[in-house]
Amino acid sequence: MSYARIIGTGLYVPEKVVTNLDLEKVMDTTDEWIRQRTGIVQRHVIAHEGVATSDLAVGASRKALEAAHIRPEELDMIVVATMTPDHLLPSTACLVQAKLGATNAGAFDVMAACSGFIYALSTAHNLVRTGQCKTVLVAGAEIFSNRLDFHDRNTAVLFGDGAGAIVVQATDEEGGVLSTHLHADGTQYDVLWVPAGGSAAPPTHERIDSGGLFLRMKGPELFKAAIRLFAEAVTEALEHNGCTIDQIDLFIPHQANARIIEMTAERLGLPMEKVLINIDRYANTTAASIPIAIDEAVRDGKIKTNDLVLLAAFGGGLTWASALIKW
Ligand code: ACO
Repeated sequence: MSYARIIGTGLYVPEKVVTNLDLEKVMDTTDEWIRQRTGIVQRHVIAHEGVATSDLAVGASRKALEAAHIRPEELDMIVVATMTPDHLLPSTACLVQAKLGATNAGAFDVMAACSGFIYALSTAHNLVRTGQCKTVLVAGAEIFSNRLDFHDRNTAVLFGDGAGAIVVQATDEEGGVLSTHLHADGTQYDVLWVPAGGSAAPPTHERIDSGGLFLRMKGPELFKAAIRLFAEAVTEALEHNGCTIDQIDLFIPHQANARIIEMTAERLGLPMEKVLINIDRYANTTAASIPIAIDEAVRDGKIKTNDLVLLAAFGGGLTWASALIKW
């Protein structure tokens, strides 16, 4: 079986920046509260309607393809992780395929909330390992700014728009993605959800007017679950690969809250210089947060060949996941 290596990365965020101070002007919140409780200082958001999730995914994917020296026609598969697709039908991945001109690629979406990117990476890993695909594009892309209820300060301050992408390719050289572990607990579906708009509660005027299509979250419950699930996900990845935490060169967690990340690092005995935090600049970009962070780490020289890079995420579903990569 082949190994699956990451040979290119890219990120794309819209130009428009909304700071906490901007939010102070439109809702009942403060810069101080948001910084202290979440670590967020600003977020990128789309400037106007007409920019879709696939546009952000294409921006990140073009950069990843360029870094990998791969032409779109060389892709065998495109997997897009998103909770905010362009349309209910078709998949956002198909729109990315068309916009890139990836004429030889299959395409589909993965929906696993903030764990979506690791779920998508796991799918790509297995497509490559089993020989079904040679070169796979994996993107995490999200536009949440138009799914937030700005009367609900518990959620509206937390999220940003953006996309990250990687190119995974088959190689005989040992390394690349070493393992992925995926988990879910659907009994807690309403800890983070959009109540209406799907088949269980189709969009009606009443449901739209009462805010049923906005994201709803039980923040403190999710916070507690996140601390536990992050640690579990990391421990499982380490045990599976016979590694200790000291061997990890860089931990890239999903960026939901700086306090969750710091508490997790402390629990695991991981020094903060080995932990990537960029939530201050992007907020929580859900499925895009890990690939955005990966691309920044690569460009800033924080990841070198042969480094052990650990990814972990948790999110709506509930879902949680980990991946260990030998770069
Ligand atoms: N500005 C000012 N005050 C606020 C704000 C705000 N934006 N939001 C809440 N508060 C107030 C509350 O009303 C409350 O006031 P009260 O004590 O007078 O009632 C107080 O702050 C404390 O509220 P808590 O909800 O207990 O605050 P907490 O410290 O738990 O922080 C937060 C809230 C940031 C949401 C935290 O719970 C969290 O990060 N949870 C996890 C969220 C998460 O991970 N979400 C993404 C999951 S990933 C995915 O799949 C999308």
